[in-house]
Amino acid sequence: MPGRIPERFIDDLLARIDIVDVIQERVTLKKAGRDWSARCPFHDERSASFTVSPAKQFYHCFGCGAHGSAIRFLMDYDRLEFPDAIEELAARAGVKVEYEGGGRPVQREDASDLYTLLDAAARFYHQQLANNSAARDYVASRGLSAEMVERFTIGFAPEQWDGLKSALGSNAQRLALLDKAGMLASGDRGNKYDRFRNRIMFPILDRRGRTIAFGGRVLGKDDGPKYLNSPETPLFHKGRELFGLWQVRDAHQKIPRLLVVEGYMDVVALHQFGLTQAVATLGTATTSDHAEILFRNAADVFFCFDGDRAGKQAAWRAVESVLPRMRDGRQAWFLFIPDGEDPDTLIRKEGIDGFEQRLRQATPLSEFFFAETGKDVNLASIDGKARLAERARPLIAQIPDGAFRDLMYAELERLSGARTVIPASTSTPAQAGTRPAQRSLVRSAITLLVQNPALASELQPPWTFSELRLAGVPLLVELIGLCRDRPSLSTGSLLEHFAGREESAALNKLAQADLLVDAESGRSEFLGAIEQLDVQTSQQRLDDLIARQLAGTLSDAERDELRQLMANKPAHKRR
Ligand code: UTP
Ligand code: MN
Repeated sequence: MPGRIPERFIDDLLARIDIVDVIQERVTLKKAGRDWSARCPFHDERSASFTVSPAKQFYHCFGCGAHGSAIRFLMDYDRLEFPDAIEELAARAGVKVEYEGGGRPVQREDASDLYTLLDAAARFYHQQLANNSAARDYVASRGLSAEMVERFTIGFAPEQWDGLKSALGSNAQRLALLDKAGMLASGDRGNKYDRFRNRIMFPILDRRGRTIAFGGRVLGKDDGPKYLNSPETPLFHKGRELFGLWQVRDAHQKIPRLLVVEGYMDVVALHQFGLTQAVATLGTATTSDHAEILFRNAADVFFCFDGDRAGKQAAWRAVESVLPRMRDGRQAWFLFIPDGEDPDTLIRKEGIDGFEQRLRQATPLSEFFFAETGKDVNLASIDGKARLAERARPLIAQIPDGAFRDLMYAELERLSGARTVIPASTSTPAQAGTRPAQRSLVRSAITLLVQNPALASELQPPWTFSELRLAGVPLLVELIGLCRDRPSLSTGSLLEHFAGREESAALNKLAQADLLVDAESGRSEFLGAIEQLDVQTSQQRLDDLIARQLAGTLSDAERDELRQLMANKPAHKRR
């Protein structure tokens, strides 16, 4: 696991670079007032709804809602993982990324040696396939075209203990690297030999097209496990990789959808028959890392599983992994393959048209979700309804705030008859008794602050409103603390701080809200809002004390405080 990158480092990095430069290198931007605009790179459009704000260090598309900091842009546009996006920005700023707990696990030089070596291994196996007629026959018997053998750099590991070892392990240092890359296995006496022998080899590429691991299939039936994968290495974490994703990305400028299948052969066959959006997990369940990678690449994801019990179980694991990632705009479907078939055999039988037909009839996530949670439940009985609600609620609660979650709650309510109080979010505080006027005060303070974090440093302590029992107040207090701590924070970096938190979606929305105020009126509006909140806080205190007085539980000190507050009251406008 790479060490965490400290938040302070990320702030400093974002402060050093200009988001306009980063985006301009990839998208042609036109000046539009203080901002820059372009046709959105994340959806098809004719008009220019995509805006980059140098002041906020933030981009936003009014068409599709894409938005974020320079980091988010690189993640979505270059499809980088978070640490890689940071590395990229750090490289252009000429700084070295700090990792907590002693740096990335792989030294950079060491890593580049590993990549080079694994690339050489892939070429070695590929060459061996050309030289070996039994292996070529097997590949032909599976119906793999020459084009796919090239596209996936399919190869063959010869039936020797030291085929790869003697080809690439010419000295002790290289042997150690081969070992580190997972290409060797150890005997009883610590002797090292080729891990992959007499197998058809599938290189696993990372998101930049570098070989990081292999999967190998036996030729016949007799020889050990059918598929053998590289072990976890510094470069390879199977829960985070998808076989075929590189080829998918290579084939599409904009990936329309992704299809997740279980096997190497399935991916290759689907690509061969024209379904070039297929990827596979590597002999593991769909992890939440997988889910994130999938949705970062395409908004629509189809999961194909066997129709049997194991397949349903695997599909449910996928549901659990994707629910927390189901932001609005993302969709997942499930396709269950008939008994005895897999995507490989099916597309060979039915062709791409038959397969597309099945995809059109795939089960939407919501439907599969309620079918599974409602299994063995008698919805005609009260107990059954309660049971369903109990099962479904905690899962639906994991869906990010948005229309999809609301609809899932609505469907649960329809099926079970049980109402769920939807958890509060900053954009729709559900706290009882909060008046809209008060809500909007907190909200407008948050909005102004998110759009101009420097405002926080203008506050003169003390402010008292942190005591105020009002939705959004804890968030506002946290934001003020954060912004005062880091005076150089931009909107983009602020949002980065909240990435992955429940409040993130709401804050993003507020960051984009059009305030229609200039800097000076924004400033006075913010300070005014805080002042109002302070006034409300003393009002709240007054109400509390009066209540205690009525209950006869007032202490002497409180009595004094009450007197003072009463005396000051005329100075404050009542709400
Ligand atoms: P399957 O056994 O369904 O294989 O395993 P398949 O892809 O249909 O393979 P062929 O058609 O017989 O060649 C599906 C996937 O599960 C993983 C592999 O990723 C495989 O592609 N697997 C399977 C293993 O990792 N190890 C095994 O022993 C078997
Ligand atoms: Mn198969």
